[in-house]
Amino acid sequence: MAYPQGFIQELKMRSPVQDVIGRYVELKRAGRNLVGRCPFHSEKTPSFTVFEDNFHCFGCGAGGDVITFAMRIENLDYKDAVTFLADRCGMTVPQEDRRYSNIEKPKLSRERAFSMNKAAARIFYDNLASPEGEVARQYLANRNLEAATIKRFGLGYAKNEFYDLYNKLSALGYTKDEIKENFLCGISQKSGKPFDMFRNRIMFPIIDTSGNVIAFGGRVLDDSKPKYLNSSDTVVFRKGKQLFALNYAKDVLLGNVESKLVKSGEIILCEGYMDVIAMHQAGFTNAVATLGTAITAEHARVVSRYAKTAFLAYDSDDAGRKAADKAMTLLNEVGVDTKIIRMQNAKDPDEYIKKFGAESYAKLLSGSVGQIDFKLNGVLSKYNMNNPDEKLRAVDECCKVISSIYSEVKQDIYIQRLSEITGVKTESIRSMISRDKRKSAGKVKAERRADTEKKTMHFDDRINPEAIANPVAVEIEERILGIILLMPEEYAKCDAISKDDFVTSFSARVFGAVTDLYKENITDLTPLNEMFTPEEVARIFDMRFKRSELSANGTAALNEQIAALKKEKMKAAAKTKNISSDEDLINLISKARKDKGIN
Ligand code: CTP
Ligand code: MN
Repeated sequence: MAYPQGFIQELKMRSPVQDVIGRYVELKRAGRNLVGRCPFHSEKTPSFTVFEDNFHCFGCGAGGDVITFAMRIENLDYKDAVTFLADRCGMTVPQEDRRYSNIEKPKLSRERAFSMNKAAARIFYDNLASPEGEVARQYLANRNLEAATIKRFGLGYAKNEFYDLYNKLSALGYTKDEIKENFLCGISQKSGKPFDMFRNRIMFPIIDTSGNVIAFGGRVLDDSKPKYLNSSDTVVFRKGKQLFALNYAKDVLLGNVESKLVKSGEIILCEGYMDVIAMHQAGFTNAVATLGTAITAEHARVVSRYAKTAFLAYDSDDAGRKAADKAMTLLNEVGVDTKIIRMQNAKDPDEYIKKFGAESYAKLLSGSVGQIDFKLNGVLSKYNMNNPDEKLRAVDECCKVISSIYSEVKQDIYIQRLSEITGVKTESIRSMISRDKRKSAGKVKAERRADTEKKTMHFDDRINPEAIANPVAVEIEERILGIILLMPEEYAKCDAISKDDFVTSFSARVFGAVTDLYKENITDLTPLNEMFTPEEVARIFDMRFKRSELSANGTAALNEQIAALKKEKMKAAAKTKNISSDEDLINLISKARKDKGIN
């Protein structure tokens, strides 16, 4: 699946890292580099850094080049990430160069998954109109769904049978493995036979913003459990990232279509499918929901691409309030304002609209308050402002709230307002806020230090699981790989080493892949994205990055490290004893600590 080198080079030239990343992350200049808040984990203090042609997050270790970034952020495989970037800069993707095509491919391709899902959605939709669909039609009618709504959302029915969907998909040419991998059938442990995953359920197709059906949610028609069954993650679906109905909401969010009830840039976040559908039916076509999971940092990032303000229309129970709290934090971190909708006498928006109508709901929306106002009002009403001591405490608490606002402009507005309310000078408020910010930055630094130590010890290292047992060897391996990755010309000067000299198989794999590229005179590391996962690529770029921070002295350093590695390899070979007990593991860790001078 490799592409001609010239094409990849041009693609990268036309896709500067800072431009591509800049569309997802607000980047600020810091010396020669750009920094921003990492889109791959939740953070307040920017530790995501963009260098010349690659990126690195000092918080979560994500890293790689522009293609790695596209793969991770858009959840694409290598080929689709290349197409995605090519589309962006108007290039045509050429025929594949078959040289590196002996890479194992997943059983189910994305194209096949999309077409299978589309076929399944059609089958479910047709089932609804069939005689067996009567129960489902009845159910949807009881829930006040109009025919147009059912059609728009493509709702369907999975029959109360074990092989209905399976047989129909098989007849269309999909294999058992493919259907199973797409979460549309399971395999019976007893008989080994496939069976339909969704049975006797109302089916909600989940559609991405390009219009592909990527997954399904299915609801029972009665009180049985589980109430909802959702597709697990598949090649085309990651639930921690998708928002239900964003495909419909995006037009009004981006201002491409006008709507009476909705302003562009304002999104409504709900908890459930039925809430979203009821809202759209009532004219609130800006409603979306997460899918059987709480909001994640990735969801928040997606929201930030479509909206400046999010109304949280969560259930009015305890769980709903907790979910709203989490949503506020995550959305605030990506610069989205939140407003909380508080309903009375209804458990969720679907029920509210059914009981009180769309107009009342519109009033709830316009009456909702922002989270900062909400918190500040809470603090101010707690204290007696005529008592200097209490006033000081109130200002102190308010400053903590204000220091959590990321946008400086917005911070300024609240500083002004707090100053007007309390009569405290804005300069004093400002200095209290910078003190709070310093404090939280200190905390982040300490956490990072602890993390780095954990990393050097290779605890819990999933990329290179052999590292914990071979800490010295791994350090040498990474030094060698770092030099080779950073200075391809150094590798050319030395052939004193081969894949077999490496102790850990991950390092051996990296060495093998890199030398294969160099032998073809390819010094650009992009093809690694095809052979390694984005997490592995991050580790590889990290090795190169660490080396670049040292004043390396080329061949001499390399030769020295190679000699050291050969010694380690012999030691490892002589080590007959395997790690078989906790005691062995503890001994290994304490030896590793001693070797590194850590107590
Ligand atoms: N959910 C889920 N699995 C469950 C229960 C809930 O995935 N077993 C998810 C669904 O996305 C659901 C949302 O959580 O839409 C909210 O759950 P809940 O409030 O229980 O359901 P409602 O949306 O109110 O659904 P309904 O009105 O149909 O009862
Ligand atoms: Mn409900």
